[in-house]
Amino acid sequence: MMLRAEQISKQYFRRTGGANYFHAVKPVSLELQPGTVTVLCGRSGSGKTTLLHMLSGLLRPTEGRVLLGETDLYALSDRELSQLRNRFIGVVPQGRSVLDTLTVEENILLPGTLYAAPDRREAAARWMARLNIEALAQARASELSGGELRRTAIARTMCAAPDVILADEPTGDLDDENTALVFACFREAAAQGAAVFIVSHESDALQIADRAFRMDAGEMNPL
Ligand SMILES: Nc1ncnc2c1ncn2[C@@H]1O[C@H](COP(=O)(O)OP(=O)(O)OP(=O)(O)O)[C@@H](O)[C@H]1O
Ligand SMILES: [Mg+2]
Repeated sequence: MMLRAEQISKQYFRRTGGANYFHAVKPVSLELQPGTVTVLCGRSGSGKTTLLHMLSGLLRPTEGRVLLGETDLYALSDRELSQLRNRFIGVVPQGRSVLDTLTVEENILLPGTLYAAPDRREAAARWMARLNIEALAQARASELSGGELRRTAIARTMCAAPDVILADEPTGDLDDENTALVFACFREAAAQGAAVFIVSHESDALQIADRAFRMDAGEMNPL
């Protein structure tokens, strides 16, 4: 399914001596097509995460619409939006998102467990193997390294086989070898029909991009 943003923008309020509103993201339109990888680069603070959160249904734009197929995300009720997001949209968040008290496997299966999806243990095993964390399946997340946590979060997203994958700095804490592995996984997801969107302040994701953009002080332009 296609994810489409129509002239979305985000204004935040910030105290800077006086009180000011500023545009973290200036009005932007974007189409994420099934089967493609779109990469967004840009410096820290340029508005990349803000844009990704608006695309994912987590942050209501100040103006504009986000459409998944024909469905306007922000016209839905909270409950409808949560269900739609769980079913169709996979987010790999920038920060820590893995639950410490669960095992790696439990974390990966959690989104399916919450909404009583069909058993995903086989897919979980496959993605853990792909991402080199299968030996950690029964380890508690509290015992993992930063890179292992990152790969767990990626496996959790991939395991659900979402139509749209939105990944925020997915290789930020990975070495070269694991970075290549993760990029291959995203490419494979696109080959199977997913619309993939990767945000990064480094340019290494550009190598797998079908389309690339750059964010500068809230303004997005083709690269
Ligand atoms: N809730 C908020 N309220 C006010 N300002 C915010 C809020 N969230 C983010 N900002 C500001 O909006 C701008 C864009 O932030 P954003 O997190 O989108 O940047 P980013 O490009 O993802 O940066 P990084 O590469 O460091 O992750 C920054 O100047 C940030 O300080
Ligand atoms: Mg960010």
